[in-house]
Amino acid sequence: MLFKSKRGWELKDRDVTPETTYWSRRKLLGTGAGLAVAGLAGASLLNSRPGMAQDPDPTADLYPMARNAAYRVDRALTDEDVATTYNNFYEFGSHKEIWRAAQSLPIRPWTVTFDGMVEQEKTVDVDTLIRAMPLEERVYRHRCVEAWAMTVPWSGFAMSALIDYARPLSGARYVRMETFGSDRYNAPGFRQFWYPWPYIEGLSMAEAAHELAFIGTGLYGKPMPRQNGAPLRLVVPWKYGFKSLKSIVRFTFTDARPLSFWEELQASEYGFWANVNPDVPHPRWSQATERLIGSDERVPTRIYNGYGDYVAHLYTGFAGRDRDRLYM
Ligand code: MTE
Repeated sequence: MLFKSKRGWELKDRDVTPETTYWSRRKLLGTGAGLAVAGLAGASLLNSRPGMAQDPDPTADLYPMARNAAYRVDRALTDEDVATTYNNFYEFGSHKEIWRAAQSLPIRPWTVTFDGMVEQEKTVDVDTLIRAMPLEERVYRHRCVEAWAMTVPWSGFAMSALIDYARPLSGARYVRMETFGSDRYNAPGFRQFWYPWPYIEGLSMAEAAHELAFIGTGLYGKPMPRQNGAPLRLVVPWKYGFKSLKSIVRFTFTDARPLSFWEELQASEYGFWANVNPDVPHPRWSQATERLIGSDERVPTRIYNGYGDYVAHLYTGFAGRDRDRLYM
């Protein structure tokens, strides 16, 4: 959906820098994607980059997706090599250098299940699902609760389209999402048995249906690298990054608020509703500023990560513990 009036994320092309670098990469990839499919020398060249998965992706022909000019931000894009080598993906280790380990994740065949309060439960092949969606690219800010931030172009589709596809019942109030578990792939992080695997996150239906909520299938004009959550992940730019779970296998519609991975582990630090707010510190550190990965520049944190004008209304009328936990 496009907007009648100009929104905060609608800036001119030249304001989103360094576009030149980005667009010249995209040009290269216009031919690069074809090479990867053909499995020629070009494929191994591309595969040597940390951003690339090892095998040709069956949806590679869909990239790069047309950028939706309505979604852009007034910050430089993070360098691709940085965004694809500095990651949080605890299934592969509780440190930032998991990108190599993540290459072992088998991402095809991959199915996605829709269950709970839906007209009819179904399990679909991820490529069929992706091809059924209205695909586009959006540039979003991403803010980790650990106070680092990046700005990247995600490929994928609006989460509202996924909800239409799933056909939830009107009584559904939340969507619970699940990352792959050890039944699918025994990732090294599962040996850290004190974590409540599998990784679970949730959104209210109002949050999930918001036009900014996005399902990412790619990054920088290419299929999603494994370390960033292939084959599909959540992207909710006004919330701390831990809400944006990776490598999703299940969407469950429910009337009960889901208990997320981090909330189960440490409820006093990671609430279900957590939204970015510079004025509410994490119990162990300030959220007033953030570090842009790549340049290491420190910049002020923005309420709702800069998307407040569009999402603050989702949280009016909150009371009691929920209101207290809106920003943590
Ligand atoms: N999803 C899963 N399954 N496991 C994780 O450990 N980490 C989260 C989120 N999604 C995580 C996850 C956190 S804390 C952040 S900040 C983002 O992924 C990081 O996404 P990125 O590596 O693509 O920057």
